[in-house]
Amino acid sequence: MQVRGMDGNFIEELKGRSDIVDVISSYVPSLNKKGSKYWGCCPFHHEKTPSFTVDREQGFYKCFGCGKGGDVITFVMEAEGLGFYDAVKLLAERAHLEMPKTLSTDNGEFRKVKERLVALMKDAARIYHANLEDSAAAPAREYIAKRGITPAMVRRFGLGYSIGYTGIADALKSLGYRRDEMLKAGVLQERDGKIFDAMANRLIFPIIDAFGNVIAFGGRVLGKTDFAKYKNTDNTVLFVKNKNLYGLNLIKKLRLKTRVNDLIMVEGYMDTLALVQAGVENVVASMGTSLTEEQAKLARRYVEDIYICYDGDSAGQNATLRGLDILKRHGLKVRVISLPNGEDPDEIIKRAGVEEFLKYKNAAVELTEYKLLRLKGDHDLSDPFGRASYAKESAKIIAELPSEMEREIYENYVAKLTGINPSVVKAEIAALSAGKVSEEVLTSGVEATTANEQAARYVLHRTIMGLEKWENFADLMPTEALRKAADYMNECQLAGKAPDVGTLYHVTSEEEAGAIIDFDEERYKGSEETAYRDCLNLLRKEFAKSRLAELNEKYKMCTTDEERNDVMRLIAETEATYRRYYGNQ
Ligand code: CTP
Ligand code: MN
Repeated sequence: MQVRGMDGNFIEELKGRSDIVDVISSYVPSLNKKGSKYWGCCPFHHEKTPSFTVDREQGFYKCFGCGKGGDVITFVMEAEGLGFYDAVKLLAERAHLEMPKTLSTDNGEFRKVKERLVALMKDAARIYHANLEDSAAAPAREYIAKRGITPAMVRRFGLGYSIGYTGIADALKSLGYRRDEMLKAGVLQERDGKIFDAMANRLIFPIIDAFGNVIAFGGRVLGKTDFAKYKNTDNTVLFVKNKNLYGLNLIKKLRLKTRVNDLIMVEGYMDTLALVQAGVENVVASMGTSLTEEQAKLARRYVEDIYICYDGDSAGQNATLRGLDILKRHGLKVRVISLPNGEDPDEIIKRAGVEEFLKYKNAAVELTEYKLLRLKGDHDLSDPFGRASYAKESAKIIAELPSEMEREIYENYVAKLTGINPSVVKAEIAALSAGKVSEEVLTSGVEATTANEQAARYVLHRTIMGLEKWENFADLMPTEALRKAADYMNECQLAGKAPDVGTLYHVTSEEEAGAIIDFDEERYKGSEETAYRDCLNLLRKEFAKSRLAELNEKYKMCTTDEERNDVMRLIAETEATYRRYYGNQ
């Protein structure tokens, strides 16, 4: 059995030899035994009363405050900011176990390639960073000094310098990396058979993911040129543009030290550095202005409140504002900081100090209010026609809001501003929002999920907790992540072992593993038996439906009677197998 591309037996042995209470107590000093569990203060969020528990027997930890949970490996991953493989390695060293040498499967091969690239990127970052000491880096040192970046920040963000077009290639070659690997990692580019460093003669900002891996570089020109001011590594196996947040690795570390209540999201590298240098450490950069779902999800894993602080001129762009709705849809409370004179955070701190910036942060307004305020600039509110057109445009913004309560607040806001009777504003908005998706669907954000997925989670939850007999229902799973979880349970069944709750975090996405394990059984309290059957039947019904739809399509495509007969038989079989799950529909 494979666990994330590693030998499952090895992982099992490793876990057997790594006492979870021992390991965790070196991160959580005052673990106390109460009943069958150990209790302490959660290392992943700030708290005064312990809600973090460790179960030695089950090899499992769980925080009732922040919801984090997993096995000894996920703990080390989270606490040390490591990937799975490196966490395993660390534990193996601790337990004096030798790491398995061969990674035989395809998945293992891919992992090996990826690992090489991760190592390569780390070395590239080290080389760029060390370059700053080189005599050829005088322009970079001058630039850093001119921008007022302190040596501590240079180290903290691992800034560097690319010397010439081939410097990095030579240095990496001497470390044993191949040219194809450098191309694959995006460190080098190829044009007309020639390879070169696209970051040549630029100041380097390593882009590091939440696990501490260097996945790409941003490079800034030092002087005035016709070239793009900033360049990023092209998309690679490790890096997909706009799926990461710059500085997130540091947020993760920060959270081990102190409570992080909110994040400030800025546009760029320099803004991040300037704020952190000024002591405002809860900052990440979106690296460009159009936000993605992935970035919203990442941010939501860390905080609920987010402050957007883009350049004065770009924040107001409609495209940017629409982008911010993504954050809201993912359950974040979004406020917008408007800085004066089109300044960015770096500039305002330079001009007037960080207190000035914090003054503007305190004056930040909720996203919808920000939109409505901005709209005011386009209408003459001293004129009745201006007020009417403002009210009409505002109604469009308010109608987009998923919550009745929020709409109510802003209806009154607009009514007050324009002197129009609130009931008239309300009617306008009601007309616009008719036919919009219901509040529940939209506000559930990250939890947005279908009944089918919930049913799948419940079924998996009951099975992995040992409350139901194992059945093979992998085919019925509506998503890839759920199917992976079901596959794992099947493998355990085949191997004659009970599935392990902690391992689930490694065989599917952490998000999904958490959702399965933490499934709220209260929902079905008292009717577990029927609920379990109902959920399973729902899955079968949905599976049959999509299978039949598929076969119907296939039937239409048939060209011969023979083909048609085959498909008809499959349809009949599917119907016979699943008819009983249709009930009285
Ligand atoms: N950016 C980019 N490519 C560009 C311009 C910008 O990827 N050609 C991204 C970078 O991540 C940059 C951010 O957008 O940090 C913001 O750009 P900008 O406001 O132009 O730069 P600043 O961060 O203000 O940088 P500086 O102060 O060095 O001019
Ligand atoms: Mn700037």
